[in-house]
Amino acid sequence: MPHIAKRLSRVKPSPTMAITKLSMEMKSAGRDTITLSQGEPDFDTIEDVKEAGIRAIREGKTKYTAVDGTPELKKAICAKLKRENNITATPDQILVSSGGKMVLYAALMATIDPGDEVIIPAPYWVSYPDMVQLAEGEPKFVRCPENNGFRMRPEDLEAAITPRTKMLILNSPSNPTGAASSAEDIRKLADVLMRHPHVLVMTDEIYEHLLYDGFRTASIAGVEPRLADRTITVNGMSKGYSMTGWRIGYACGPKDIIKAMSAIQSQSVSSPNTIAQVASVQALTGPQDYIQERNAIFKERRDLAVKMLNETPGLSCHRPEGAFYVFPNCAGVIGKTMPNGRRIETDEDFVLGLLEAEGVAAVHGTAFGMSPYFRISYALSTEELKEALMRIQRFCKALR
Ligand SMILES: Cc1ncc(COP(=O)(O)O)c(C=O)c1O
Repeated sequence: MPHIAKRLSRVKPSPTMAITKLSMEMKSAGRDTITLSQGEPDFDTIEDVKEAGIRAIREGKTKYTAVDGTPELKKAICAKLKRENNITATPDQILVSSGGKMVLYAALMATIDPGDEVIIPAPYWVSYPDMVQLAEGEPKFVRCPENNGFRMRPEDLEAAITPRTKMLILNSPSNPTGAASSAEDIRKLADVLMRHPHVLVMTDEIYEHLLYDGFRTASIAGVEPRLADRTITVNGMSKGYSMTGWRIGYACGPKDIIKAMSAIQSQSVSSPNTIAQVASVQALTGPQDYIQERNAIFKERRDLAVKMLNETPGLSCHRPEGAFYVFPNCAGVIGKTMPNGRRIETDEDFVLGLLEAEGVAAVHGTAFGMSPYFRISYALSTEELKEALMRIQRFCKALR
């Protein structure tokens, strides 16, 4: 008798985690490896946020909270959405959960029926299609070409919408490309959506603070408030505030959807971590200037990566607006032979060859729905990044 439920047959484990695991194994076996597949800032949580967490423990804030989050945190989130996103929301439109990932999952489970289509811009973050499939929906991919800065063209969105479309997922800045959309770009997508009132929008804004060169992105519900009653805005503390391990994410949306997500949460994870919620209030209401200081370092690394990748034979790299990823094109190495005699047929062959020869772990573009590309995370020390990029150059120069 099979033990595993049929719904799992459509779900793969995260390929980014698989590469990270392989490189960790190589590292523990004594190989000199550099991991470029991580999805978290190398910076620590700032001291006053840590202190707020420590104080919460000392003050005995160690019990359950309301399932959908503490009133203090929901209030701080409403203020943040008003201040930064032009979104007006009341606390009953907010759900706090255990990380952005759980928020996205609860939103899909709360809205998607079997066979509903969900439009996902490609390249996409690896978890979207699998989460949609867990909810028994059908992912529908819209290609966002490099020559449009990996952004979705409004006409491609229009063409992808059918009577069965339930939701569009947006992600700016994007994982894996770092591409971000301006208010103007988002306005054009909003215009398309205004013609299709049956389509919900879920916008994943977890990288919103990681933007360089003065680029500004926008929230679709802030750009077009008439879409607010069918938009779920997802965000969290993980990336911009360097709080990945605290596990706090949140959603803002229509009351009925938030209530349904809260019901899912009450019967699964229950309330998010109490101490992390206190620390998150501090992060949202305390000083914000360190984010820009850290961004100056991320920008320097992005520029280094783009420059060195563009100097590498067989590779070309688009300069993204944000996040901590670049998504170089590796079409020029396909068909070449590695020193070990093996031919590179795919971007996966390329990243596996690179890991084996140089101990550098990147993730193949196929995992994100676009090839031949690969993703590099530059959330590691500048010296290590430089060393990794030198090894990529050496690997590519040795191809025949
Ligand atoms: C695009 C995107 N959305 C959401 C998440 C989830 O973040 P969290 O750590 O808050 O669950 C990630 C994390 O890698 C991400 O890259």
